[in-house]
Amino acid sequence: MHCHFSSLFARLGGADGITRIANDVVDNHLANKTIAPRFSKSNIPAIKNAAATFFISGTGGPNVYKGKDMLAAHKGMNIAATEFMAVLDDSLAALAKNKIGQREQEEVLFVLYSMRSQIVLV
Ligand code: HEM
Repeated sequence: MHCHFSSLFARLGGADGITRIANDVVDNHLANKTIAPRFSKSNIPAIKNAAATFFISGTGGPNVYKGKDMLAAHKGMNIAATEFMAVLDDSLAALAKNKIGQREQEEVLFVLYSMRSQIVLV
């Protein structure tokens, strides 16, 4: 079905669908040699919750994200462009695993890419 007018939030399966995708994104990060060390001391359920709520709020769902903005969250980490690319790769793989369509994958990629200047080398 082609849904011209519904929010990206709805087309990603709402809060439940996005939570599944976000959990897979974080699992992919933990298995990705380029970036896994960044999360070695993280509370994994907490970062899964942050990823899910950030994306629920950022795609047109309810305003449930309570974390920092992207600049504050990543400032001083010296994150490289290759690491940013790894996050994009992991995110697209999670969308495909959850059978999200190409149009929606493109929209998510654009939303994520637009945050690059607040994350890489800040
Ligand atoms: C568009 C891409 C990205 C998005 C949307 C994103 C999103 C987030 C969010 C929502 C948080 C939680 C902030 C909070 O709890 O206040 C966070 C924390 C973090 N991010 Fe990112 N991030 C991105 C890219 C990256 C990259 C490329 C790296 C480096 C590999 C990275 C490493 C981290 C780390 C280490 C934390 C802290 C984890 C912790 O609290 O244990 N992020 N990010």
